[in-house]
Amino acid sequence: MKILYFTATGNSLAIAKKIGGEMISIPQALKNDQYEFEDDVIGLVFPTYCCYPPKIVRDFIAKAKLKANYLFAVATYGNVMGKGGDGGEMLEFDEIAKAAGYNFNYLNAILMVDNFIDNFEIGKEIEKIPSKKIDDNLAVIIDNINAKKDYVKDPGFFGKMMTSMCKGLVKSQDEGLAAQKFIVSDACVGCGTCAKVCPYGNITIKDGRPQFGTNCLSCYGCIHSCPQTAIHKKSEKSDKRWRNYNVTLKEIIEANNQI
Ligand SMILES: Cc1cc2nc3c(=O)[nH]c(=O)nc-3n(C[C@H](O)[C@H](O)[C@H](O)COP(=O)(O)O)c2cc1C
Repeated sequence: MKILYFTATGNSLAIAKKIGGEMISIPQALKNDQYEFEDDVIGLVFPTYCCYPPKIVRDFIAKAKLKANYLFAVATYGNVMGKGGDGGEMLEFDEIAKAAGYNFNYLNAILMVDNFIDNFEIGKEIEKIPSKKIDDNLAVIIDNINAKKDYVKDPGFFGKMMTSMCKGLVKSQDEGLAAQKFIVSDACVGCGTCAKVCPYGNITIKDGRPQFGTNCLSCYGCIHSCPQTAIHKKSEKSDKRWRNYNVTLKEIIEANNQI
């Protein structure tokens, strides 16, 4: 089994590692112009951004040449947005995959810690971990994949509505300008970790300070991985940051580094 993954703060990599198989980072595959993958089972694991798959995943699936008897994808997401369902990210993924010629057998999503600091306070998110029943939900997903089950998660009416409402947000996110609003405090020591975790190579260090370009994925990897907590958003709920407990900073750098 091969798993193609994208992660900014480790949730998706933690899930990918637990599902098992050969791990392949999508940013590194794109960096190396590697699009052809073959195995009995191939899966994708990635976060949800504004009820959609991230642009880097959408772009990858449009170019990829995947050959497998069983194809699955699992999105990690942070919060159920209301009664009736969460985002319709997997239906959107299904559409994009179908346009690229793929019929995914299994599309599901798993609730994790929400790293969207504009809306959620990380300390409170960490307190929610037990109630999210991550291990139990993942055990079901792993059983399903091992049994090669056919399934597409239905987001329900509310989830579909949320996804269609998010279309405008996704469009503005895709313009790549999010990092232009990031604020760097005097705590910055110019260590360059932010540049190394950026999956788009959008950060350069000049005169000991990060400079953000106009190709930002909005993954917040730089914000969460800064060892000095020096990168901020005006809208952030607190200065608490998140990295999944089962993933190291070294793994995030290896997964995303474009330098
Ligand atoms: C820009 C942005 C948008 C997000 N949008 C959503 C969303 O629409 N729905 C949701 O449930 N979680 C959303 N999240 C939370 C992430 O999907 C979630 O925390 C994910 O597990 C992070 O995965 P990672 O640690 O592998 O990067 C968003 C996070 C970011 C940074």
